[in-house]
Amino acid sequence: MKVVILKDAAAVAAYGAEIFVKQINKKNHSVLGLATGSTPVALYQELIAANKESKVSFSAVRSFNLDEYMGIEGDHPQSYRHFMNEELFNHVDIDKSNTQVPPGNAANPIEACEKYERDIVDMGGIDIQLLGIGRNAHIGFNEPSSSLASRTRVKTLTQATIDDNARFFGADEHQPHLSITMGIGTILESKKVVLLATGEGKAEAIQATVEGPLSAACPASALQMHRNAVLIIDEAAASKLVDKEFYKHIEVENQKLEEMLEL
Ligand code: PGA
Repeated sequence: MKVVILKDAAAVAAYGAEIFVKQINKKNHSVLGLATGSTPVALYQELIAANKESKVSFSAVRSFNLDEYMGIEGDHPQSYRHFMNEELFNHVDIDKSNTQVPPGNAANPIEACEKYERDIVDMGGIDIQLLGIGRNAHIGFNEPSSSLASRTRVKTLTQATIDDNARFFGADEHQPHLSITMGIGTILESKKVVLLATGEGKAEAIQATVEGPLSAACPASALQMHRNAVLIIDEAAASKLVDKEFYKHIEVENQKLEEMLEL
């Protein structure tokens, strides 16, 4: 996998957004896989700015989100549907009927998960999947011990994830302990994967993802099996990588190659 180490969170967002802008400009009806959490917000702000400056249009874009809490409606302020509307969809020229978030309130979640998988396939598959990473290296809500071949399904959250996300919920607000998430197998079928990580708190997860063994104990390590995955991380998130200088050197060489190919 490609590891791009940048100065800070702002540089990570700008670099990641540029990849999405290029993808959409190359294929205006791209199918995007989108993520929630704090980390993607700055990238979404870059995309909103690019849209306002007419550098990119989302009018033909389709999207699938990674995950959603179970048992809350889409208009609940903590739902990931609400998050996506607030952080991206309400501010760009996307047709919301072309955007999907797993239905956390489905009467039959098993059937809903199967339909989600079918819908992705019917759209031609995900062209580019955005990911954050949990401190425990989860991707989507695929917590440690998730099968590396898993598909969209109901997933129980770990206490660590519940604690990490408690900051978004009011003291007397119900916080779901279950989710619907794309599986690791689903994510691995995306044509390209872009994972963002910033801050010291992610350093251990990033080290295990890049340099640790391929293991269900570290869900993001599954990306070692993806042919087109890029990790865009800041210096703090890169701080525990043993071969950090090598990854920086690779990136310099990649840049030279790209410049040469553009000539
Ligand atoms: P964060 O979450 O961006 O809020 O740190 C990442 C994740 O849990 O995937």
